[in-house]
Amino acid sequence: MSASNGITITWLGHAATTIDTPDGTKILIDPWVQGNPSTPDALKSIENLDLVLITHGHSDHMGDAVEIARSTRAHVIANFEITQYLGSKGIENTTGMNIGGTVQWKGSRISMVNAIHSSGISEGDSIAYGGSASGFVIEFENDFVLYHAGDTDVFEDMKLIGDMYSPDVAMLPIGGHFTMGPTGAARAAGMLDVAAVIPIHYGTFPALTGTPAELENALRKASDVKVVALQPGQSVDQEDLV
Ligand code: NI
Ligand code: MN
Repeated sequence: MSASNGITITWLGHAATTIDTPDGTKILIDPWVQGNPSTPDALKSIENLDLVLITHGHSDHMGDAVEIARSTRAHVIANFEITQYLGSKGIENTTGMNIGGTVQWKGSRISMVNAIHSSGISEGDSIAYGGSASGFVIEFENDFVLYHAGDTDVFEDMKLIGDMYSPDVAMLPIGGHFTMGPTGAARAAGMLDVAAVIPIHYGTFPALTGTPAELENALRKASDVKVVALQPGQSVDQEDLV
C-alpha cells in the first residue's frame, strides 16, 4: 500500500503496469505477468482488479488477459478486434474501442491513441488479426494524466497527443528492436512535453538493449525531463513524478 493521496504507478516489468487511484480503483495495463521474466514472483498473482487495458495483440502485452479477466472479473478495454477475440474465449465483460475514442471509466477518461506498430494475436501456428496497435492516455479524477505508449516508434503526432491531453508523465518503450530506442524516446518526451518519463519495454530480452542511462543522455541535450527508472515491482507516487 502507498501513502500517496494521488495516483500510484507500479511497473511489473516490460510493459505491464498497475495503477492505483485515490478512489481505490486498480487498473492493469498490458497484463503479461505469469510468463513475464521481469515480474517479481510476489506480484504475479493479481487480485481485486477493476480494469484491464490492452495496447495490442502481441503475447508480451495480451499476456494473461483471458485468465486474469476470468479470475478477477475485471472489465477489459482494448481495440474492437481484441475484444472480439476475448469474447470468443468467453470473456464478455469488455469494451471494444478504437483510436481516437474516449471511454469514461468511473472517474477516469481513457483515450486510445495511435501507435506505430502491429497487433497480430499468435495462436498455435497461426496469427489472428488483432486490429491496430495503440497507446492509452488516462485522465484521472484528480486531473493527473498518464500516457502509456504501448509498443511504438516515435511519431510526430506525439506532439498532437501532447497538445490534446497535456500528459504529466509518459511510459515510453526504450528497448529498441521492436520499438523506438532511447534516442527516439527522448524525441518523444520533447514532443509530449511531459515532466517525467518512466522507461518500459527494455531489458526483458537480449534484443531490447536500450537503457534508462542512454535515455538520460539523449534527453540531457535538450530538456529537463526527469527519467524515473523503476525496478520491476517498484512503485512511484504521482507527487514524485511532477
Ligand atoms: Ni508488440
Ligand atoms: Mn512488445
